[in-house]
Amino acid sequence: MKRLTLLLTAIAISTPLLANAEIAAVQNQAKPLVNTPTSLAPYKAKDYTYLIGMAGFSDYALNTHFTLYQGYVKNVNLLLDILKQYDSDGSEKTPQYQEIKRRLMWEFDGMRLHELYFNNLGGKNSTFDRNSPLYQQIVSDFGSYEAWKKDFVATGGLRGIGWVVLYHDPISGRLINAWVGEHDVGNMASGNPILIMDVWEHAYMLDYGIDRMGYIDAFFNNIDWKVVANRYPKEQKA
Ligand SMILES: [Fe+2]
Repeated sequence: MKRLTLLLTAIAISTPLLANAEIAAVQNQAKPLVNTPTSLAPYKAKDYTYLIGMAGFSDYALNTHFTLYQGYVKNVNLLLDILKQYDSDGSEKTPQYQEIKRRLMWEFDGMRLHELYFNNLGGKNSTFDRNSPLYQQIVSDFGSYEAWKKDFVATGGLRGIGWVVLYHDPISGRLINAWVGEHDVGNMASGNPILIMDVWEHAYMLDYGIDRMGYIDAFFNNIDWKVVANRYPKEQKA
């Protein structure tokens, strides 16, 4: 706004005959060019308490997980607010700005992956429609549902913290089970996330200790296949 005022003052000085109405018109035209992120609503944590009671997931583990997720949402908003200050005072070349900028997508992807994960859970007695386009594509790409699941579960057994994401590559139409380590490392650029499984230790150790496969079994028993199938785009190739 300060720059805009200076600009308008300069215009007024250099063009003394510029009428007030014209200044107002310039001001109005300039408004859309001024990115005012303060007008953007903060991200809000979604409520997943309806998942409480899922077989194989204790209330304590789920509530702890919800709290962790809410932390990502909080930090996304916090970092965006901090970055606005750097943008406005010209200190964007400082190491502090650059590290906060690097951190932003780690928090954001942590937030979004958790939302996708919680959203594809809660499918009590859910069945995977064998006639659905997603199921058919899985069979086409992996040979069978069982072969796809074996690969997905094996990916979930990788040592270290991370996520397993069944991605749809919109360019080739292929389905790929991907390992996403840190939230922001390993995501498929332009890929459509179809099924997401959290295998960070907080997701399973409270209930299963180091028995990650026991947790993965419980995860599969609670997948909402309708949600998952609906994520598969109707247009399979770009
Ligand atoms: Fe998590």
